[in-house]
Amino acid sequence: MTALSVSTSSAASLRADALVVGVAKGPKGIVLAPGAEAVNEAFEGKLAEVLGTLGATGAEGETVKVASPAGLKAALVLAVGLGEAAEDGYELEALRRAAGAAARTLAGAKKAALTLPAESAEEVEAVALGALLGSYAFGTYKGNGNGKEPVGELVVLTVRKGSKDAKAAVERAAAIGEEMNRARDLVNTAPNDLTPKSFAAIAQAAGKEHGLKVEVLDEKALTKGGFGGLLGVGNGSTNPPRLVKVAYTHPKAKASLAFVGKGITYDSGGISLKPAGHNETMKCDMAGAAAVFAAVVAAKRLGLAVNVTAWLALAENMPSGSATRPGDVLRMYGGKTVEVLNTDAEGRLVLADAIVKAGEENPDVIVDVATLTGAMVLALGTRTFGVMANNDELRENLHALAGEVGEQSWPMPLPAELKKGMTDSTIADLANMGERMGGGLVAGLFLKEFVAEGIDWAHLDIAGPAFHESAPFGYTPKGGTASAVRTLVRFAEQTAANGKA
Ligand code: BES
Ligand code: MN
Ligand code: ZN
Repeated sequence: MTALSVSTSSAASLRADALVVGVAKGPKGIVLAPGAEAVNEAFEGKLAEVLGTLGATGAEGETVKVASPAGLKAALVLAVGLGEAAEDGYELEALRRAAGAAARTLAGAKKAALTLPAESAEEVEAVALGALLGSYAFGTYKGNGNGKEPVGELVVLTVRKGSKDAKAAVERAAAIGEEMNRARDLVNTAPNDLTPKSFAAIAQAAGKEHGLKVEVLDEKALTKGGFGGLLGVGNGSTNPPRLVKVAYTHPKAKASLAFVGKGITYDSGGISLKPAGHNETMKCDMAGAAAVFAAVVAAKRLGLAVNVTAWLALAENMPSGSATRPGDVLRMYGGKTVEVLNTDAEGRLVLADAIVKAGEENPDVIVDVATLTGAMVLALGTRTFGVMANNDELRENLHALAGEVGEQSWPMPLPAELKKGMTDSTIADLANMGERMGGGLVAGLFLKEFVAEGIDWAHLDIAGPAFHESAPFGYTPKGGTASAVRTLVRFAEQTAANGKA
């Protein structure tokens, strides 16, 4: 695992393989960002000129390497572009992305030091988190020599005097970044290895490591408890479903949050089988469960004064002789009946059980996170998640918090008229399909039916950003991204600070 630290030593005297400096696009060409002063001095004031000659422009994400002159202990200088030059401080997200691009470019190096703009504690945290996330690589299945090792050690250089809060900032970045990278590992793990059972075992092990209470309901307990949604989705698979509860409690907590995650370890579509071209990435369908799991562990590591319970609704959606058929009726946990018209609309079935179960503990807020609909990807693209809620203030708050931590989101409505197709002409209380138009909202409306009266609830549809298929950018690698983790952690922090949700 990549080690992360902070230092106030001078960039010139620091022993490392590479020094990372920031550059930006000024009105008259490339300019150096704050933090690059000592390195520039070693270049006799000509660093910007040298980089310009090498073709650097300062554009966001651009990286240019140059050998160090005498006077620097590090052999290599890596200039990373921050985008447009900023007069009064760079956006935290620009710092995260630049640090991430630099850390990824330096894969294979043992030690790198980042001398990017990092004066405030927030800036130190942003550089540290971006670097840690950018250094991520999934090596589980690669033989030796097939992939470069992530940077072994990252040092964030800061001019901040009295580095106590800088140290705390780096520790925060490590808690959040390491748990995000763990969520990415879970998403990237092949679905023949990550099953509901093995995911539950990983949650139990992590719970032990961090002192969290973990309870697992296996297929026997689910049958006994009447969890028709989880059982109905899981019954086509030889890997039976699980409902996992991971609880973090704080003695001074004044509020309780429940985070519910969709954990379909593989979504083939079931009997309503997905065509080729639509199932190759469907190991990512447990990204919501990975996100809520990462968030509760991070909340514990940060010692937040709030109770957080994560509920992982784990099942594998497969076709077989024992699979749920389109036309079957399931009796969900809590007693509602659902006619399954399309077995590929399975996420809402496992989530419904988990939302009812979570509601029994009367949390102040339930937030569910799910790779729920292709319709949300069509609506918002691959980098933005949709935010729906039964409470306008909660929806706007989560959208705003996402923006603060550098996650792209957008508020979406739950128009009552779209419920019609789900509630009409069915032999059960509800169907799992309704109007075709506005499919992402229809799915949200389905979930809303399972939220107990008086509980505030929000739904994050992360189907777009959960799994990144194109070229890496900033701190975002190919594959699992850990979408929504930072928003959930920020929400838990805000709840702890306010003493209420
Ligand atoms: N897991 C999918 C949604 C999805 C699509 C996630 C693309 C990530 C990327 C979900 O279970 C699904 O199949 N949804 C269907 C619902 C439909 C049958 C009502 C969809 O969106 O097509
Ligand atoms: Mn599906
Ligand atoms: Zn799915």
